[in-house]
Order: sequence, then structure tokens, then C-alpha cells
Amino acid sequence: MSAIPAAVIVLAAGDGTRMKSSTSKVLHRIGGRSLVGHALLAAAHTGTPRVAVTVRAHRDEVAAHVTELWPTAIIADQDDIKGTGRAAECALEALPSGLSGTVLVTYGDVPLLTTQALLDLTEAHEQAANAVTVLTAHLEDPTGYGRVIRDADGSVQAIVEHKDAVRAREAGGEHADALDVREINSGIYAFDADVLRNSLLQVTTDNAQGEKYLTDVLAIARGAGRRVAGHGIDDRWQIEGVNDKAQLARLGKEFNRRALHRLMVEDGVIVIDPDTTWVDADVSVGADTVLHPGTQLHGATTIGSHCTIGPDTTLTDTEVADAASVVRSQAQLAVIGERATVGPFSYLRPGTTLAADGKIGAFVETKNAQIGEGAKVPHLTYCGDATIGAGANIGAGTIFANYDGVNKHHTDVGEHSFIGSNSVVVAPRTIADGAYVAAGSAVVADVEPGQLAVSRAQQRNVDGWVARRREGTATHRAALEAEARHTSTTTEGTSEA
Ligand code: UD1
Ligand code: CA
Repeated sequence: MSAIPAAVIVLAAGDGTRMKSSTSKVLHRIGGRSLVGHALLAAAHTGTPRVAVTVRAHRDEVAAHVTELWPTAIIADQDDIKGTGRAAECALEALPSGLSGTVLVTYGDVPLLTTQALLDLTEAHEQAANAVTVLTAHLEDPTGYGRVIRDADGSVQAIVEHKDAVRAREAGGEHADALDVREINSGIYAFDADVLRNSLLQVTTDNAQGEKYLTDVLAIARGAGRRVAGHGIDDRWQIEGVNDKAQLARLGKEFNRRALHRLMVEDGVIVIDPDTTWVDADVSVGADTVLHPGTQLHGATTIGSHCTIGPDTTLTDTEVADAASVVRSQAQLAVIGERATVGPFSYLRPGTTLAADGKIGAFVETKNAQIGEGAKVPHLTYCGDATIGAGANIGAGTIFANYDGVNKHHTDVGEHSFIGSNSVVVAPRTIADGAYVAAGSAVVADVEPGQLAVSRAQQRNVDGWVARRREGTATHRAALEAEARHTSTTTEGTSEA
């Protein structure tokens, strides 16, 4: 049984000025989920009964977002005192006062950290009966990070912040060599709750940044004779934080690479080009489905097995059943049935449902449209606020005129009915089962079963018009030649008879 932390504290109060954004840093998204959302869910999925999030910058937006994602999360407000130490202290104050056991601290801007890494840290911490265990990594370039200062016996003596290491080198004396250390503090820790609480009382703001450092807790705990250790992590992506938009893109790309890897290896999905295929955190795809280049699957999209998706297709919160195909199209809040086909070049807006074996072909826009089993909307159509019965056929260029400038109205097309090309159906309208509409009709009255509706001007052919009004043009010459051929064939015909 793996150990479960008594609480996890997610620090998310920082300003994030380097993002140069009017939005909170931790609300920026990768894989369709906010940075703090990734941190929050990784924490919550450890099974801990208490997750606390420290907030300050963009307080209300972040708090509301956290509560929406994880309603039992405890929101802890950080006051005017700065630093990670103060942030942890404010979280402890919001947690039950007698809390004991292991408390993890993580960051709201470190999105790739997994629940498994947190459980491993907890386990290592409890197995060794440490007071503090810090998650560390060895970096080629440790610039900017706190350095982990180890004892001869391997236990951790202290963490020296980069800026303080620069000072120490200039001043000489204690930690003068800290800048050369390549082992860094990830900023993720397991603490014994009592040690954390008591040590924070002693942390001051006497350092290069004038902040209350959480890292000082390690030296204080050690000074009190407690065991402080490091726990290494090899997968460096997991401890990388987002400070600016370049890192946001970098981590977003890596997140996507990992999500696609899982789909391919664990779920049997065929991804033709992982470099141009993007899937959000909550997307699921069935075995033997092919994702072609340029496919983006967002939000709560679910795709069945043996489907063909893409190329160049964007699906958001869309459900696609087995063996369906969606090619060069875009859909949002749509449901696509088994063996149904969509595209190329179609746009399915919210409320579109396409039943099994149905077809939405090329250059079709649909909205709030329920298209029945085996029904076809093959070409160049706007189908809004409509119910199309099973087996119906909607001719090329049909427009469902659903909007009168004030209100939207609904159209019903019955089963196995047929709408001729280039018709406009003015809603509200009912075309019954088994009815026909002639091509080019403006349908302004309901159509009963078995009827043919024809609603267009009578055709009138005006003899000699081209000769009178377009004399000397190529069209006129073509007409004269055609007439001459017609006369000679008629003459030949007559002479043979
Ligand atoms: C911190 C560590 C450093 C470590 C690095 C890893 C300290 C003193 N230093 O430095 O040893 O190598 O992380 O990335 O802890 N935060 C608050 N309230 C605050 C300040 C920060 O909630 O007052 C949150 C931020 O939102 C952020 C996290 O704490 O998520 C880290 O803050 P940041 O300022 O980036 O810490 P570093 O200086 O990078
Ligand atoms: Ca940072």
C-alpha cells in the first residue's frame, strides 16, 4: 500500500509578471487544462483528504476556477508578506490546526508533475522517517534554482537560493561554493506537518529577496536535529515550471507528446504524425482509429474505435462513435454516429447530432440539427434548427432559413423525404414523411406525405432574344452556328425519309 499524504498544499499566489499577460499565470492552459488545474488534479488524485491552494494574484478568478475543478479544495489567501514560506504558512493556517502526518508542497505552475511522483515522494519520505524530503534533480545549467547542499552522509544540510549563492561567493565563508552545485531544489517537498508548522515560525525575511523562504525550513529542521533528505527525480519535465509564454509552449508540446504516446501505446490509436496532432488531457480515442496530420481533439472529445479523423480536423467536446469518419472539418458539441461520415470542409456547430450511417458531406454548416439514421446532407447546405428524418436526402445547396431577424424557428423533414437542390425552406416548416420538394423551390408552406411541392416561377423562353440584344457577340455567333447545324440535320433527315 502506498502512503497517502495528509494534505497537499499547492502554491499559486505568485504574480507571474514574466508571463506579460492580463490573465493569471496559473490559468493559462496546456492540454486544454489550466496550469493550476494540472497541479490540483495531480495533488487530489493522490487520495489526500485535503488539498489547499494558496492564492493572491488574480485571487478571485483563480479561487473560482480551483473551486469549480475541485469543490472541496481549501482556498488559502496569502497576505502582504512575500515568499514561498509565507505561502505555505497561510495554507497551514487554512488547514485543520492539529493536522499531523505528511504534508506535500507543490507549485501551481508546474503542470507535468504526476500523481505517481507525489506518491513516490510520500513513500520515500515516510519509509525513511524523514522530517523533510525535498524532490531534487541534477541540471547541466542550474542557474536561477535553489542549490541543494548535502552533507558527507548524503543528508541535506540546506538549500541556498541562487541570488544568495551569488552573494555568498562574493562574501566568502559559508556556502561560498553553492553556485557550483548542480543539484537543484524542485520546490516540491514532503514535510512532517509539525516540523513544517514549528520551523516556519522561525523563518525570517533576512535574505537577498527580502522574502520568507520555504527553503529555510530545511536548515531549521536540521538544526533541531531532525532528518532532512533529498529524493531525486530523473524525469526533469515533471519539475519544470512555467514562467513565460515560451515555457508555456515548450511544456504544452511535451504534455501533448506524452498524451499521444499513451494513446498509441496503451490504447492502440494510430497517430500518423504526432508533431501536428494535438489532444487535450481528457480526450479518449479507441483502438485502430487513425488520427491524420493536423488533427486537434479538444475538451471532452471522445472518439470510438476504427474511426478516421483528419487530416486538418478540429473537434471540441464532440462524441464520435465507432467506424465514423471526419475529414477536414470542424465540430463543437456535436455527436457523430456509427459509420457516419463528415466532410471534407464542413462545420458542425453545437447541437448537431448525426445518427448512424448518416452523411454530412462537403461545405455543409449545421447547428442544432438532428440528422436521422442514414440521412444525407451531402453538399453546400446550411442546416440550422432542423430535424431530418431517417433516410431523407437534402439536395445540394439547400438552405434552412431558420432566422427571421428576431427569432429562430425549427424545420422538420420527415423520413425518406427528398429536398431538391437549391431549395430554401423557410422555418417554421414541416415537410412530412415521404414527401418531395422540387429543385429550386422556396418552401413557404408545409408539405403533406406523398406530395411534391413545387414553388418557383414558371420558366419562359424568349425567342430571338440573343440576336436582338447581343448581336455580334460570341454567344450570338454560337447561337447562329447551332441553328445552322440544326437546320442542316433537319434537312438531311427530311431528304433521307
Ligand atoms: C523556488 C525555490 C527554489 C527552487 C525553485 C524551483 C524558494 C525560496 N525557492 O524559487 O529553491 O529552486 O522554486 O522552481 O522557495 N509563490 C507563492 N507566494 C509567494 C511566492 C511564490 O504562492 O509569495 C508560489 C508561486 O506562485 C510559484 C511558486 O510559489 O508557483 C514558486 O515561486 P517562485 O517565485 O517561482 O520561486 P523561485 O524563486 O523560482
Ligand atoms: Ca519559478
